[in-house]
Amino acid sequence: MRSYLPPILYLLLACAVGIQAQDKIADAVATDGKLSTLRSILTSNPALAQLLDDKSYGQRTFLAPSDAAFAKYAAETNTTIRGGNFSRTQLEAILSYHVMNGSFPASNLTSRGGVAAATFLQDSQYTNLGGGGGGNVVYASRYGSSGEASAAGKLEVFGGVGNSAPIVTTDIKYGNGYVHVVDNLLSLPQTCTSSMGKLSLTSLTQALNRAVLAQTLDTTPGVTCFAPSQEAFAALGNPEGKLSPKELSDTLMLHTLGKAEYSPDLETGGEYPTLMTGQSVKVVRESGSLYITGGGGGKAKVLRGNVIVKNGVMHVIDQVLTPSSTNGSSSSPTSSSGAGTGDSSPSVSGFSKNSSSGNHIVPSTALLFTAITIIFSRVILA
Ligand SMILES: *[C@@H]1O[C@H](CO)[C@@H](O)[C@H](O)[C@H]1NC(C)=O
Ligand SMILES: *[C@@H]1O[C@H](CO)[C@@H](O)[C@H](O)[C@H]1NC(C)=O
Ligand SMILES: *[C@@H]1O[C@H](CO)[C@@H](O)[C@H](O)[C@H]1NC(C)=O
Ligand SMILES: *[C@@H]1O[C@H](CO)[C@@H](O)[C@H](O)[C@H]1NC(C)=O
Ligand SMILES: *[C@@H]1O[C@H](CO)[C@@H](O)[C@H](O)[C@H]1NC(C)=O
Ligand SMILES: *[C@@H]1O[C@H](CO)[C@@H](O)[C@H](O)[C@H]1NC(C)=O
Repeated sequence: MRSYLPPILYLLLACAVGIQAQDKIADAVATDGKLSTLRSILTSNPALAQLLDDKSYGQRTFLAPSDAAFAKYAAETNTTIRGGNFSRTQLEAILSYHVMNGSFPASNLTSRGGVAAATFLQDSQYTNLGGGGGGNVVYASRYGSSGEASAAGKLEVFGGVGNSAPIVTTDIKYGNGYVHVVDNLLSLPQTCTSSMGKLSLTSLTQALNRAVLAQTLDTTPGVTCFAPSQEAFAALGNPEGKLSPKELSDTLMLHTLGKAEYSPDLETGGEYPTLMTGQSVKVVRESGSLYITGGGGGKAKVLRGNVIVKNGVMHVIDQVLTPSSTNGSSSSPTSSSGAGTGDSSPSVSGFSKNSSSGNHIVPSTALLFTAITIIFSRVILA
């Protein structure tokens, strides 16, 4: 019924029953002169304001897009936001991605390492993390996209396709938490392969596509993809002489974790089991950078961390990781790993062996990897 009232009457009604100023999101937003587009959107879409005002969702932190952010988006996409060209669902998805689940005053976001936080974006078109029903994630950092820059810079929030939004005004309080003003709209998370496309990782994209591996990577709930840059592939030179098809396929699996690990989750010195059986990668932090090492030596620097994707996260690295050398099949339980813990039995992620959450993935992944190795080696050479 209420939705038939003109929005302005609805607001007046709210005031008349004595709701405190700035308890409501619309009132908090009215205190900042850079937020008039947002104000008009919230006024004409009471259901969106409700996302922020509803008391039953707990504390939240709203990354409020400035007028400049909407204008930039409108120019890039040829949409007229005020004119209602945005579909309700689209607007709802975009705005819910700007709502962090929890109370994050700026002081909670500024430490080295940064913070990855779930948002209210639960739409399955943009979120496939597996596990609980939490929304997709944003990453906030004052130390760049991997949280490790040597000096503190501006506080930024990182979303889909490697896009980021600087926070320009912090800590406007309202009834359910905090509002920080951002000068860019966060891009909604896309699949791994379309994010790679947007970041011009064409060698990797091409390899995955031709290898028919793209779909597995894109649809597996909860993954981390260490994505070698164009230069990393170029530096491989002539892999034909160095890697057998089997080694090539293993190498791809070595670049994927069966769980979304945002940079704050990657503990320094920690070993993370990969989809290549028995092989882990290790996390190193030094001199202003985050590095990932494979068992076979070499140290890949994270060039761009925390690219949020629909089913997890991607970290772009500057080298192709190499596995530790093993004898025979990598699925042999006796294959030893040089990745640190010596002869202890390989720690296998819940994803890879016999877990109920992931066991339908493993056979298909293994088969695919086996089947595509030759294609993949051709692609790399192409
Ligand atoms: C927006 O419109 C301009 C001019 O009409 C056009 O050149 C441009 O390709 C359009 N951009 C998009 C994203 O549609
Ligand atoms: C926006 O919507 C109006 C009214 O529906 C329509 O006339 C106009 O062409 C639309 N503009 C774009 C860029 O889609
Ligand atoms: C913010 O920081 C305070 C103080 O360190 C802490 O108690 C609180 O749990 C933090 N909030 C979140 C959402 O992490
Ligand atoms: C926010 O987080 C809480 C606790 O993890 C969870 O119960 C709730 O469903 C989340 N809310 C949204 C909208 O995702
Ligand atoms: C690998 O195989 C060779 C020859 O079969 C053997 O000498 C070597 O010790 C093996 N290495 C490992 C790590 O098992
Ligand atoms: C998987 O787990 C089930 C029950 O826990 C067990 O019976 C079965 O042998 C396991 N399969 C493998 C391949 O480890």
